[in-house]
Amino acid sequence: VLDLPSKTYDVVVAGSGAAGLFCAIVLRELGLNPCVLTKTTASESSTNLAQGGIAVALPQEDSPDLHFNDTLRAGAGLVVPKMARILTEEGVKRVVDLLRWGARFEKEPNGVLKFTKEAAHSVPRIVYYEDRTGEEVQRTLLNRYSGELVEGAKLRELLVKDNRCYGVLAEVDGHLTAFYAPVTVIATGGAAGIYLKNTNPPTSTGDGISAALRWGALLQDLEFVQFHPTAFCDGEECFLISEAVRGEGAILVDRHGRRFMGDYHHLWELAPRDVVTRAIESQKELTNGEVYLDFRPIERRGIDIYKRFPTITKKLLERGIDPKKDLVPITPVAHYYIGGIKVDTFGRSSIEGLFAVGEASCTGVHGANRLASNSLLECFVFGNRASYGVYRDFIYLSRDFAEVRVRASSYPKRGHSSYTLKRVKEIMWEKVGIIRSAERLTSAIDELSKIALSDSPWEVRSSAILGLAIAVSAMRREESRGGHFRKDFPYEREEFRKHSQFSLSDLENL
Ligand code: FAD
Ligand code: SIN
Repeated sequence: VLDLPSKTYDVVVAGSGAAGLFCAIVLRELGLNPCVLTKTTASESSTNLAQGGIAVALPQEDSPDLHFNDTLRAGAGLVVPKMARILTEEGVKRVVDLLRWGARFEKEPNGVLKFTKEAAHSVPRIVYYEDRTGEEVQRTLLNRYSGELVEGAKLRELLVKDNRCYGVLAEVDGHLTAFYAPVTVIATGGAAGIYLKNTNPPTSTGDGISAALRWGALLQDLEFVQFHPTAFCDGEECFLISEAVRGEGAILVDRHGRRFMGDYHHLWELAPRDVVTRAIESQKELTNGEVYLDFRPIERRGIDIYKRFPTITKKLLERGIDPKKDLVPITPVAHYYIGGIKVDTFGRSSIEGLFAVGEASCTGVHGANRLASNSLLECFVFGNRASYGVYRDFIYLSRDFAEVRVRASSYPKRGHSSYTLKRVKEIMWEKVGIIRSAERLTSAIDELSKIALSDSPWEVRSSAILGLAIAVSAMRREESRGGHFRKDFPYEREEFRKHSQFSLSDLENL
């Protein structure tokens, strides 16, 4: 039984990235009193790091229909059409909301929006701000949000009783506090940070997804992790080199200087992300060497790369690489988590009073492989819709809302050894990574099970439990599709053209 400091709100929103803030802004417009909790500072998020931009059917030659078709094609047979329709149609209005709220996206001299191109988009439809669109989005949303926001408040557990959520248990300044609310929204972002090499901030450890799993929510498509083809890594430290760089004309070459992508796909460097990632891995193996990004074709188009990509080129120059003349060594790393908490069209999870938005959720819009720059759009569209779902459910959930006292954790501890987060990340990278096999997955499941049941620090167990669920889901999908590649089952199989679901009982029955 818990006897802790506590606070009560209308809605608790865990996470201050694009999805959480968009949702909280609209909740306030609807007259509710949300409290946003965030793990570190208000702007430490994947949102803040986003580079390429936001895909939206605003250009004259574009339409929500065309955007819908591109989304469907990239998703390798698993996109949920109803969700993708909502995304591409409502996306237009949500991007206009951002402009109304002061977002400074790039414009032509006559004041109309500029659009860039990214992989697998049939037209240039990406609105952007330099190579730091995310910073602009984060700034705009934080400016707009005028409600309560608690920094350094780390969601640890959900307060769930009889499949109903009454808030969260968070660690604030090292102390546990219960944040009670009739409705809770998980907006804690993705889980690419549980991989050794990734593009995400350290906060992306899937905390909200793991907590939802431990408290009984239904999760979906956990095996799908998106590996971005082009990161620059210095040991384990990696940063993203945006797909927009290829969209503006950069090419990939192998160690012999040969442009090889045509061997793998007719769209060359602008093939879907999973195809480019595996092509790079395969070319590295074939040539026994590095693969490089060549920025010089962009300059030959008359574009100054220092101006178009100031953040990326600055980071490279600081590391002694001048992309105006040097080839840039790149490598695929974990980037985006496609799976997550299964939600309906208004962000409702399978637990009453519990919603999920953004990368922590799984709406099904990305299928098995996300189309570039569709993620921020998903945060806005479904963040907005969730606020209306919350508004409706709040009406009846607040009637009999009572602060509950619940057990501290629903997942048993048996072992006694102490593991580190680094070990979890190594296992995920080496055994549940870009190229998977039954052998590697079995070994990952074996080790992650021990960590999940150990008395290791909270972060380690939380990541290991989610990692274990990812590995088990990857083991069950005996095919290759989108971001999930099994070298022992290298092709798509019709009987697997369906979503996978996962819940606590799948772990308990291991
Ligand atoms: P985040 O933005 O990650 O926010 C999660 C929030 O939850 C953070 O505030 C975090 O601190 C908080 N949090 C985490 N754990 C806890 C906890 N335990 N308790 C409390 N708070 C917690 N997508 C695009 O569409 N276009 C792009 O150009 C693009 N570029 C990208 C570039 C990079 C380098 C990266 C990493 C991603 C990029 N993406 C892009 C993906 C996109 O940025 C993310 O999918 C999206 O921003 C996710 O938003 P979110 O609100 O769901 O999560
Ligand atoms: C990028 O700029 O390449 C990232 C875009 C995305 O992840 O959608």
